[in-house]
Amino acid sequence: MPLNDADTPAITVAGVSRHFGLIQALTDVSLECHYGEILAVLGENGAGKTTLMRILAGLDRASSGQLFKRSEPYSPHSPRDAVNAGVTLVQQHFALVPTMTAAENILLFRSQRRLRTTRDKAASDLEALSTRLGFKIDVDKPVGEMSVGARQRLELLRALDSDPDVLLLDEPTAVLTDAESDSLLEIVRSLAHDDNRSIVFITHRLREVVKVADRVVVLRNGKVVVPAAPVDQRTAAELASEMVGSEVHDAIRTPQIIGKPRLIVDSLTTSEVGPISLTVHEGEVLGIAGVEGNGQTELERVLIGARHCTGGRVRFGEIDLADIPPRRRIASNIAYIPSDRERTALVGPMRCDENLLLGRTTRLARRHEKAKTLMEQWSVLGLPESVANTLSGGNAQKLVAARELESHPELILAFQPTRGLDPGATAFLRQVLLDMTAFGSAVLWVSADLDELLAVTDRIVVMYSGSIAGEFKQPFDRGAVGLAMAGIA
Ligand SMILES: Nc1ncnc2c1ncn2[C@@H]1O[C@H](COP(=O)(O)OP(=O)(O)OP(=O)(O)O)[C@@H](O)[C@H]1O
Ligand SMILES: [Mg+2]
Repeated sequence: MPLNDADTPAITVAGVSRHFGLIQALTDVSLECHYGEILAVLGENGAGKTTLMRILAGLDRASSGQLFKRSEPYSPHSPRDAVNAGVTLVQQHFALVPTMTAAENILLFRSQRRLRTTRDKAASDLEALSTRLGFKIDVDKPVGEMSVGARQRLELLRALDSDPDVLLLDEPTAVLTDAESDSLLEIVRSLAHDDNRSIVFITHRLREVVKVADRVVVLRNGKVVVPAAPVDQRTAAELASEMVGSEVHDAIRTPQIIGKPRLIVDSLTTSEVGPISLTVHEGEVLGIAGVEGNGQTELERVLIGARHCTGGRVRFGEIDLADIPPRRRIASNIAYIPSDRERTALVGPMRCDENLLLGRTTRLARRHEKAKTLMEQWSVLGLPESVANTLSGGNAQKLVAARELESHPELILAFQPTRGLDPGATAFLRQVLLDMTAFGSAVLWVSADLDELLAVTDRIVVMYSGSIAGEFKQPFDRGAVGLAMAGIA
């Protein structure tokens, strides 16, 4: 348990820089985080937030500058060094092994730390820790079968297993709904304020900063542009403009002329969900709201042909969607932004320009030039020839959107499209999607963020427990949608 030592910072970053070839990810960054405080790190996509956390957690090294732990020089060469020094990181992307159970994942982590332990001991420790933090976790369930909310809580438990005094959280709430992130943030608050740990917390959701952070620091282009200062009276809007250096304008929905049905899901059933019926028309944005884990992923799998239905039909205009093989999807004018962007959207080891042209027939000579234009349009930080897995989380998401939306698709299947994007990029992507409806695109927009759906859609259907629990039209009644999401008709 951390010592109570009010004046000595738990962690100090002093003049740290990091470059990757010509890319300067961090320049002379200095900050500190004290015991018992939550320091929020804000910054646009590609600002250098993850790079800084990785350096602190021993996953990467600074090019220059120094780190201190309780005022002692600290230079972790591996995650194990960091954990032994009491520093752990919950990464931006899930690092759990999906085929293993919760307990086995903890065991694996302990063995990486060279701790001798048994599976039963790991399971009972895990149960004790989760009880203390006020939630239940099924220690024997494979991680792959858990909801994202449960997986995120397990990531946190795994990080806490070594009882760190410095906890680094890289966008822990990005995949959660409001209610889920509220409960996670309550835990985070208690870990800092009751247990006296030092917590560095990255998020793009500014209301969370206002809610739980004690101090906030803003990075832009790898530099500290607003030094750490108490959050105090600052509003989310003020933080947003400090972050991007200008005001962010919300995307505006102007209703379009609604045309013929483009996507028709008719009494669809699979072994897990159904019956689901819904229609998206030309020029229309249909939102699917619902707490994650209520069948959205199953619907996504059916729509992209990764899963057969046991009943019903899905049509794209007059054609059976199942008759369009995945590799013909883009050529058939269907765009798809997947919810699991790491696993399905990009080929990590391939270059950005190659990724941008997946599914298209563009001559090699024009590839580079075309990719460059697209990346500029979408402000993707990176070069056409850099490999996709060197992009920051949000920039990878922008690259997917740029590829999918490039040729004015007739049907857009957007699953959590703005997840992980900073406020500026979020507004940009929302506006692009809305503009496309003016050209007749039909948009199916699945989001865990109800406020997003209320702002951008024409109609909302709510998924609950595998089927449609309600349909709502403009003007929306937020309370009624919320009740349907909770399964209360
Ligand atoms: N291994 C690498 N090779 C080349 N460039 C890299 C590498 N890792 C990071 N970068 C670059 O460093 C910059 C900062 O990336 P980082 O992941 O730290 O951003 P971030 O602030 O976490 O953004 P996001 O909000 O999108 O997650 C980006 O331009 C990224 O492309
Ligand atoms: Mg990041």
